Amino acid sequence: MHLRRTRALPLRLKRRSARKRPRKMQGSSELPGFYKLSLQQRLELLQRLAGLTEEEAKTLANTGGLPSDVANRMIENVVGGMTLPLGMATNFLINGKDYVVPMSLEEPSVVAAASNAAKIARVKGGFKVTNTGPVMIGQIQTVRVPNPKAAAKKLMSKKKQLLARANAQDPMLVSLGGGAKGLHVKVIKSLKGPMVIVELFVNCGDAMGANAVNTMAEAVAPLVEEITGGKVYLRIISNLADRRLVRATATFEKEALGGAEVVDGIVYAYAFAEADPYRCATHNKGIMNGVIAVALACGQDTRALEAGAHSYAASSGAYKPLSVWKKDKNGDLMGILEMPMAVGLVGGAAKVHPAAKANVKILGVTSALELANVMGAVGLAQNFAALRALSAEGIQRGHMKLHARNLASSAGATGALVETVASRMVEEKKIRFDRAKELVAELSNTRS
Ligand code: MEV
Repeated sequence: MHLRRTRALPLRLKRRSARKRPRKMQGSSELPGFYKLSLQQRLELLQRLAGLTEEEAKTLANTGGLPSDVANRMIENVVGGMTLPLGMATNFLINGKDYVVPMSLEEPSVVAAASNAAKIARVKGGFKVTNTGPVMIGQIQTVRVPNPKAAAKKLMSKKKQLLARANAQDPMLVSLGGGAKGLHVKVIKSLKGPMVIVELFVNCGDAMGANAVNTMAEAVAPLVEEITGGKVYLRIISNLADRRLVRATATFEKEALGGAEVVDGIVYAYAFAEADPYRCATHNKGIMNGVIAVALACGQDTRALEAGAHSYAASSGAYKPLSVWKKDKNGDLMGILEMPMAVGLVGGAAKVHPAAKANVKILGVTSALELANVMGAVGLAQNFAALRALSAEGIQRGHMKLHARNLASSAGATGALVETVASRMVEEKKIRFDRAKELVAELSNTRS
């Protein structure tokens, strides 16, 4: 029944969108030679194609501190930039060190909530975070192996040779103490019959490691074919980075967080997530609000982090919370978060994006492990803040204040008037655009 429902969905969507889709863009999307144009020429072409105003084109052209030639080298078919707000979460005390944490995202309340959670955590000494080390897994998929079990044994007997071939690809990483350190071979059943999967365990040091691991996996593949007599297809890093985990813990004092009832509420919220995947998805989303906001600010691969987090959450065979919440013997609340945290400071956007570099400097981290630890603490803080709000007053009050400010400014309020109009709407419990417009008109008149 489940399957039939999920299969029917894309068809329904297709039919609806075919009926409603407005035809804004004129002409074909093929755009031959688009990639060869300069950034400016691409934008001009797009402007004509989509009927963009000068203002809209100017907005897209703004790369927000990222030099356009750098942007142009980072991805393909670049026309400009897309900026998000950057906020700073305060109060973070992690492993005895203070951090001001850059966070970039579009959602209101997240930065304030993280700062507030970190303030409460300080009462009991802040966050303690440990780490398994920066080990990533590279997979080599071998199919059509005549005798998979014997091949697996043979591969293990050639472990030294395979690791040496892998390490020859990155002498720099090896000289810094990293490199391929271990190897595992498994035979799996699949829709296409048995497969022999070789897994390289690579200590990536201060790199996220995708490039190093993929290069090693590709280099080892011919040797794997030779040893197994099979055919290698995929040679790629795994984002289920369960050898690169952070474990963040914190105790939140009962009085500081709002009393025994709130502690119970949070423990019940955890039990709900533990028992129900629909709630669990949102519980984990709250954690990722913090993790991904820091990741974006610091130029990390956010998709790898999301993939790692959710696959780890499901690695027992059922989808589970990444954190655990319980009451300790004093009645205080204890939180523990464990999740993969594949981040790097060398290579990637962290090294080339000027804003990411400045954010890493503000954060004051000097290694990928330290960055991962901070992100673990922020994930736990964010989860705490969401559960606390949900089990007490609900999240809408905080959200609505920010929403009111946004409405006030879209209704034309500027300067101090934004706060005045927003406060009036909150007081009246009428947080609506039409009311914002009325108040802007009324209060501007009073002022003049
Ligand atoms: C909203 O972005 C995140 C929350 O939904 C998380 C949660 O429900 O735990 C508030």
